[in-house]
Amino acid sequence: VLEEILPASAVVSATRSDILDAELFPEEETVVDRAVDKRRREFTTARACARQALAQLGERRQAIPSGLRGAPQWPTGVVGSITHCDGYRACAVARATDFATLGIDAERNEPIPVGVLADIALPPERESLRRLMHDQPGVRWDRLLFSAKEAVYKAWYPLAGRWLGFEDALVAIDTAGTFSARLLVDGPPLGGRQLTGFEGRWLARDGLVLAATAVPATAP
Ligand SMILES: CC(C)(COP(=O)(O)OP(=O)(O)OC[C@H]1O[C@@H](n2cnc3c(N)ncnc32)[C@H](O)[C@@H]1OP(=O)(O)O)[C@@H](O)C(=O)NCCC(=O)NCCS
Repeated sequence: VLEEILPASAVVSATRSDILDAELFPEEETVVDRAVDKRRREFTTARACARQALAQLGERRQAIPSGLRGAPQWPTGVVGSITHCDGYRACAVARATDFATLGIDAERNEPIPVGVLADIALPPERESLRRLMHDQPGVRWDRLLFSAKEAVYKAWYPLAGRWLGFEDALVAIDTAGTFSARLLVDGPPLGGRQLTGFEGRWLARDGLVLAATAVPATAP
């Protein structure tokens, strides 16, 4: 389903079940060698998805280590992003000549835990959630807001190399399937200018909410 919300030149590999015979490279194994089974399965399956996606881009089979703050380290000339939630694991990659960065996120289409909204949503975002929940109750808009912010963070980090808090971007979600995130902090330089935000798309399907953002290499 992620293909539907990413540009056509991005390659997606996703699965709804774990790939139990997938192998890890030694530098990946160290990331999960002491992890619980659930974490090991999601990590291993998503790495298998990543290798499938890289192969479709014409890249050789190789390790995708976890770098600073957990960001996956893509081969030179490739940008990408990984997500996993219960019942879904996915990776999207693209050529760096097409995109400066990518961010994807998938979540169960379920309410976020009580109390979390105050930590992740700015007052204008909470206001718009009230309206969206009233107009279209089938989508868990609070979860979608969270997902959009996670996708933004995953796209932000490889460019900026620093933390971005939930209060540092103002996200506006459109019922037509798009969202925008306006940065409330200085963005990283990109193409001789400064990045001021992210444009993304979202989808609610088969019990999931998904969000994706792709910044063109020529942005902003
Ligand atoms: C890192 C984070 C974004 C992961 O999101 P999540 O919904 O919890 O989990 P997901 O399964 O969707 O994504 C996990 C994957 O994100 C990727 N990821 C982790 N840290 C990353 C980073 N700094 N940059 C880019 N990608 C990162 C990894 O590939 C990871 O999977 P892996 O460890 O198996 O390789 C989240 O835990 C977090 O720390 N968020 C706080 C920052 C934030 O979201 N700010 C909002 C800004 S508006």
